[in-house]
Amino acid sequence: MRKYKLIAPAKINLYLEIIGSRADGFHELAMILQSINLADEIEIHAASTENIRIYCQHPQVPNDKTNLVYRAAELMTKEFPDAFNNFGGVDITLIKNIPVAAGLAGGSTNAAAILVGIDLLWNLGLTESELQQLGGKLGSDVPFCIAGGTAIATGRGEKLSPLPTVDNLHIVLGKYRSLEVSTPWAYKSYREKFGHTYIADQDSLAARSHAFHSEAMVKAIYNHNIGEIAHQLHNDLEKVVLPAYPQVLRLRELFAAQPQVLNTMMSGSGPSVFAIVESASQAEIVKQKIRSAIPDPDLELFTTHTIEHGIEISS
Ligand code: C5P
Repeated sequence: MRKYKLIAPAKINLYLEIIGSRADGFHELAMILQSINLADEIEIHAASTENIRIYCQHPQVPNDKTNLVYRAAELMTKEFPDAFNNFGGVDITLIKNIPVAAGLAGGSTNAAAILVGIDLLWNLGLTESELQQLGGKLGSDVPFCIAGGTAIATGRGEKLSPLPTVDNLHIVLGKYRSLEVSTPWAYKSYREKFGHTYIADQDSLAARSHAFHSEAMVKAIYNHNIGEIAHQLHNDLEKVVLPAYPQVLRLRELFAAQPQVLNTMMSGSGPSVFAIVESASQAEIVKQKIRSAIPDPDLELFTTHTIEHGIEISS
């Protein structure tokens, strides 16, 4: 086949703890990542030229080498030069439904889809773990986005341990269109403010990461206890992003004030904020209430739910 259509779901962080610094300049993390059914659509065609071309109508998405999608395709051409010579370049069409620079791994999931798509297009037969290793070269969230579902992510975020699916978790999500938070800025600010709390020695870092696998949030997921999952939501990056972005703080407070909301949290480095509710109809009620309280059209609101997969091939 010379063309594939892929579905690339967003993720939210049910948990994000910053444990310490790493020798590579990144942070050692303990996270729980969860796919949601808010997804981008990606079409990938074998091109008759040797170029990588991106077509995307979204005003905030670049069509050049700065797009992680481009870098994912370029990585494949470098890793598999024979296949590239044989099959030629690729034309990629992106339909963005996931808000951009939102802490929802929109760019990472697009890149993950390109790895999966080129693997198919060039008949490479890569395993999931080989695709994840390639993904790790592009960004910390890319390996998770390939398989998706529910997983513990440690290290930079690339060391994954799958968890039982958290299905039926209904979510309302809000993001101000014009508000973008730089992930490097969020981590840098956190380091400046809280670097003194980091675990320094390697053994203690490893012990913390290991212990996380049997902590309250992980247990709540194994028990499929939605109330407890909501109770255990955590994101260290809120400590630097919320004070810097009062609009995001207000949105979070508004979510928290709704009686239907079990709990609310910022996802990743923000600025998207999500709220957990018990049903799809409650999600709609909360969405309407937030819309009435903040009629600003710059605020995008979505109702969504958790899903058990990452990249899907739709045709
Ligand atoms: O890996 P990714 O490109 O998504 O990371 C974006 C930025 O977030 C990094 O350049 C780094 O500043 C920060 N980061 C970090 N520690 C991690 C993941 C990301 O400091 N584990």
